[in-house]
Amino acid sequence: MTTDLATDAPTGFDISRVRALFPALGSGTAFLDGAAGTQTPRSVIEAIGDAYAGGLSNGGGHFTASKRSDAIVAGARQAVADLVGGVPDGVVFGPSTTALTYRFAAPISTVWQPGDNVVLSRLDHDADVRPWVQAAERAGVVVRWLEPSRPSLELQVEQAALVIDSRTRLVAVTAASNVVGTRPDLSPITALAHGVGALTWVDGVHATPHTPVDVVRWGADFYATSAYKWCGPHVAAVVAAPMLLHRLHPDKLASSTDAVPNRFELGTLPFADLAGVTAAVDHLASFEDLAGGVPREVVPGVPVLRREKLRSSMAAVEAYESDLFAQLLDGLARMPRVRTIGSATSRTPTAWFTVAGHTPAEVSAAAAAADVAVWDGHNYAWELAGLLGIRDSGSAVRASVVHYTDAGDVDRLLDVLGSLPH
Ligand SMILES: Cc1ncc(COP(=O)(O)O)c(C=O)c1O
Repeated sequence: MTTDLATDAPTGFDISRVRALFPALGSGTAFLDGAAGTQTPRSVIEAIGDAYAGGLSNGGGHFTASKRSDAIVAGARQAVADLVGGVPDGVVFGPSTTALTYRFAAPISTVWQPGDNVVLSRLDHDADVRPWVQAAERAGVVVRWLEPSRPSLELQVEQAALVIDSRTRLVAVTAASNVVGTRPDLSPITALAHGVGALTWVDGVHATPHTPVDVVRWGADFYATSAYKWCGPHVAAVVAAPMLLHRLHPDKLASSTDAVPNRFELGTLPFADLAGVTAAVDHLASFEDLAGGVPREVVPGVPVLRREKLRSSMAAVEAYESDLFAQLLDGLARMPRVRTIGSATSRTPTAWFTVAGHTPAEVSAAAAAADVAVWDGHNYAWELAGLLGIRDSGSAVRASVVHYTDAGDVDRLLDVLGSLPH
């Protein structure tokens, strides 16, 4: 079964130019696994190679290679600050969002007292659940839940208002579900938290590659994001106001600096990969040109800042992906044996579905045989899979659209699903 997606492709976004930036797409694989990790553009690969080739040394020295490493770190902090709307001194790097969340849960929870509570969401990836659950257990603090409503799997502000109270110390919530794509209305939820003096931790890992991010507007005291979900290397960052970071005292070596943000970064940073982080942010900022000029305000004679470019570039990405996703959902809806999970009004282009008569693993294996990459399983959405009663049955199949996905990729998945035996 083939749709006419190729001819219906959204206009204004030159997808063949975008795809040409990614060497791995030449393999012929339809990479619909972007929610698990994206492919890497040549500019990022070269930035990492160039960093090594140029000579890297440990930071803080007087000689050129050391200064080069320091400059790379400073550049990457600025880049991530631009990406999410923070400031460079508030950008903490680490190996993964999971590691960073554990890293922060320890100092954040030192002030929690028995009788306090923390509010978590069953929509979230386990990386934004278990570190807080375990910290809460240690502190003798109650865990309360934001429950996704069914069948849409959206979070309700009214329900948040019932669980957030004067003893709430932290509200941890995702900016987008990594399986069903739900994008909760963050601002009212974070406003409730701030109204009672609680901190907010927003897991931005899945949201960041799909939309312009604004940590201030979203009310995120802490915002976590992993660069390998947006075409960068396997490095993650937590962004917070430097003043807030100054209040937290993580375990660290006596000999290492107590400066902010460095005191949260254990040991030596991956300098070459951080050069790749900057290149990945520049990549994300580049689509306003590829999109054929997305309208934005230009003051004659004033250079456009990367933050401004990111806003319009990511808006172009969002529009492209959302058109393609509508076509994917439409194709899935035409298949009587396919059941999609969740239907949030505001969502990323990520579909979670089952196919009657086939386990999720059978479906993803059939896709793999056709060189189509999709995931099966709970995808670490542990609480949600449990809530839906599908955690022990292989959960579901996940297909995600990212900015290098094209209509042909979507067609190929639909073809696989259409040809599964009855
Ligand atoms: C929404 C979300 N949060 C957190 C994580 C964990 O990120 P990391 O692999 O960097 O620990 C992921 C990874 O899939 C994710 O999708």
